[in-house]
Amino acid sequence: MATRAESGAHAVLRKALLAWYRDARRDLPWRRTRDPYGIWISETMLQQTRVETVLAYWPRFLARFPDVESLARASEEDVLAAWSGLGYYRRARALRVAAGALVEQHGGRFPRDLQGALGLAGVGRYTAGAVLSIAHDDRLPVVDGNVARVFSRLFALEDLPQSPGGQRRLWSLAEELLPPGGSPGEWNQALMELGALVCTPREPTCGQCPVARLCLARAQGRAASLPRPKPRPTTLDVRLEVLWVRRGGATLVERRPDDASRLAGLFELPTRETGTRSGLFPEAWSVAGLFLPGEELLRVRHAITRHRIEAVVRAARLATGRGLPGRFAWHRPGAPEGAALTGMAKKVLARGGAA
Ligand code: ADE
Repeated sequence: MATRAESGAHAVLRKALLAWYRDARRDLPWRRTRDPYGIWISETMLQQTRVETVLAYWPRFLARFPDVESLARASEEDVLAAWSGLGYYRRARALRVAAGALVEQHGGRFPRDLQGALGLAGVGRYTAGAVLSIAHDDRLPVVDGNVARVFSRLFALEDLPQSPGGQRRLWSLAEELLPPGGSPGEWNQALMELGALVCTPREPTCGQCPVARLCLARAQGRAASLPRPKPRPTTLDVRLEVLWVRRGGATLVERRPDDASRLAGLFELPTRETGTRSGLFPEAWSVAGLFLPGEELLRVRHAITRHRIEAVVRAARLATGRGLPGRFAWHRPGAPEGAALTGMAKKVLARGGAA
């Protein structure tokens, strides 16, 4: 149970952080709206993507799909094309599926209640809390990576934030700290903003922190070493041969199967795994027999989650005059309805001067 002394400390913490936020907050475009749809899209993008990147994608995505109905009507391919380059494409597929459910079951609106929001594809406790608190000032907590780091330091938490115990403690702290009056949406964003701007992962700038005097980790000289780092997953090396087949100004691209474990349905240059066996590029859709590989054009490094990819890109010609299977398409850079390319394909085209 909260003691009188604890709630007093909480009040001091809230006051200092909110005063700082009013002054220091970034003027981000999704902070100028209270429209749950726009906020839902921004919060989904921000979960695994940097703010600088989302700044370019969010307005474009909203221009293309300005409301729930347009997103629900769109083909998966169109949604993936608008998402192309943001990575973690499951998010884009879930947005479209959830938009369909909103139209069918919620009158085209983001639900007003937590249970309704949690029933949507891709919406977990974080997204639901963020959308409902920011759009409607519902009294719901959020815990993302930023909030986890801020709390781990302020309260010198020893748990791994990702562990079940760590998650339980973080969410219950977030709930306890919600302001009794005022704006929960502003409070949640203030916590995230502190994590993004001041209480940063490697070198927190405690000298600029509005709540440094309340920070237990700082008092113990441990601000930079909390939260405890997650044990690193081992990285996997992947070596690829990528074929660049040109016709006029177009490049041949191949659609990844719908059941691929990663990047399903996106287009890439014809690709074969050489020497390694990651499973990212099964033999089944390899380039055997269709192409004549030629000179090496460039080498590209790329990372997908824990895979470290090194690709040799070769010029190639079609080995057959007959038509190609339907999974192939000719991609023209800059075409408005261009194929949804993988990040790796975009990188190859950019390096090769054809993006
Ligand atoms: N990161 C993700 N969503 C955010 C928000 N609404 N404010 C600050 N940082 C965020």
